[in-house]
Amino acid sequence: MLNEREIESCYLGQFIPVHYHHNMLMDQNRMHSFKSAIAYAVKPGMKVLELGGGTGVLSFFAAAKASKVYCVEFNPDMVKEARKFLAINPNGEKVEVIHADAFEYLPPEPVDVVICEMIHVGMLREKQVEVIESFKRRYLERFGGPLPVFMPEAVIMAVQPLQQEYDFEGFFAPIVQFQETQVIYPGTVEMAQPAVYSVLDFTQPNDMMIGWQGKFVVERSGCVNAMRFVTKNILSVVQERNSTIDWLNHYMTLPLAKPVQAKEGDVLEVSFQYRAGGSLPSLQASLRCEVLYESALQPHHYAPAYA
Ligand SMILES: C[S@@+](CC[C@H](N)C(=O)[O-])C[C@H]1O[C@@H](n2cnc3c(N)ncnc32)[C@H](O)[C@@H]1O
Repeated sequence: MLNEREIESCYLGQFIPVHYHHNMLMDQNRMHSFKSAIAYAVKPGMKVLELGGGTGVLSFFAAAKASKVYCVEFNPDMVKEARKFLAINPNGEKVEVIHADAFEYLPPEPVDVVICEMIHVGMLREKQVEVIESFKRRYLERFGGPLPVFMPEAVIMAVQPLQQEYDFEGFFAPIVQFQETQVIYPGTVEMAQPAVYSVLDFTQPNDMMIGWQGKFVVERSGCVNAMRFVTKNILSVVQERNSTIDWLNHYMTLPLAKPVQAKEGDVLEVSFQYRAGGSLPSLQASLRCEVLYESALQPHHYAPAYA
């Protein structure tokens, strides 16, 4: 029998099935970004901790330069998988795979870098924020400061109103969708510019509640029936070049319970609230969108500005 924590863990994606991990290995965008960021952040001889190691791939990247990597994983299937793969890869002997809960584990010595990829769009479902906040408290109690460098260092989240087609060969189904960021989808129309709704800096204490109320100026007339959620992970800040190594999650598009007809120039007000690590339906249930001010422009009959 699973206990309550294990049931929630399964539901909220803490126990990701093994084949999802294989898909994550095949996600070149994700892999390349982490490989570059780890190559930058982990200097020769450093000690590294990975929370939520999965197949062990990020610990493997870290082991190229680190003297020791502690790789903590909660799912027993993945502990086996990580040990199996690390044994057939260079520097695998530097990685200790530990079967433990990231909410409880502390390394036996201070570490320089903590890698944690428990990241879902919007910081939903997976426990990234809670795990990092718990880790910081316990680490400071055990070792004092300074805190290690976290990867990602920060996360920037934005939201954007869309007109989204939900016709699947004649079958209407307003569903949650995940889209590649580099692809233009003909059924998706961006109705306004995206707005940043939250920035999490892992060097600072972070609130578990994420909420926002903000306005958008509609750029084209149509039906706003969905919100796109954008999550950009700042994996490493490259001080020397004043730049960052980023990883952009797939876009997540949530259908609105009440679609809104809007004209170019209308001002929309959007609000929502959810808990970091919370479910997608909890965000959907809080999502509101309405026309706050109607545009003074008459569509198709614009007076020239300087007649
Ligand atoms: C999104 S996967 C990332 C896996 C791997 N780091 C990678 O990048 O391919 C998140 C991993 O965190 C693990 N995990 C989730 N909650 C955990 C916890 N409380 N303690 C330890 N591991 C956990 C999951 O089992 C999963 O393997």
